[in-house]
Amino acid sequence: MKNYPNSGFTVWFTGLPGAGKSTLSKMLAERLKQFHLPVQILDGDEVRKRLTKGLGYSHEDREENIRRIAYVAKLLTNIGGITIVAAISPYLNSREEARAEIKDFVEVFVQCPLQMCIQRDPKGLYAKANRGEISNFTGISDPYEPPEKPEIIVRTDEEKPEESLQKILTELVKLKYIPESLI
Ligand SMILES: Nc1ncnc2c1ncn2[C@@H]1O[C@H](COP(=O)(O)OP(=O)(O)OP(=O)(O)O)[C@@H](O)[C@H]1O
Ligand SMILES: [Mg+2]
Repeated sequence: MKNYPNSGFTVWFTGLPGAGKSTLSKMLAERLKQFHLPVQILDGDEVRKRLTKGLGYSHEDREENIRRIAYVAKLLTNIGGITIVAAISPYLNSREEARAEIKDFVEVFVQCPLQMCIQRDPKGLYAKANRGEISNFTGISDPYEPPEKPEIIVRTDEEKPEESLQKILTELVKLKYIPESLI
């Protein structure tokens, strides 16, 4: 970590529903906690029940959801925390705003073809969206704008979760956010 313990950073996972953001965020948090680092996950599902309760899935509400997450991530990052965001965050522009606000920002594109996400459908939401029971569902009836220059890309259709985690840790070392002794 840059000047650890005084300097925090945010690892921002973005990707389609079912791509693997929550899975990897938990694995990353567990690993960093083993080294007693101050880690906090902001997972979209949890955030939407609390911090952004009441917001929906219109373009405007999705932007507001990300703005509030970015604000909290910035606060935690500024006091030396490692903030791990796991949210679809489908819009390029919102993620660029988050990057500008947080500054120590590591974008991880959790890449997985839509067809594979539909097959996984861990929450059964693709099935519902395909039946027309949910509107504005990312990948089906709402756009996902992939990152143009993410710091890290993981391919969860090809890699085992442990391999994706290792890739992330290796990049965090290269970026000098964590010491090599952690991987
Ligand atoms: N390399 C990998 N990394 C992460 N998940 C993987 C990988 N390979 C397979 N998977 C599986 O893909 C699924 C991803 O589900 P997960 O809930 O993490 O997605 P998500 O991106 O958080 O979705 P949502 O946006 O709906 O919350 C899990 O069942 C996980 O085991
Ligand atoms: Mg999730």
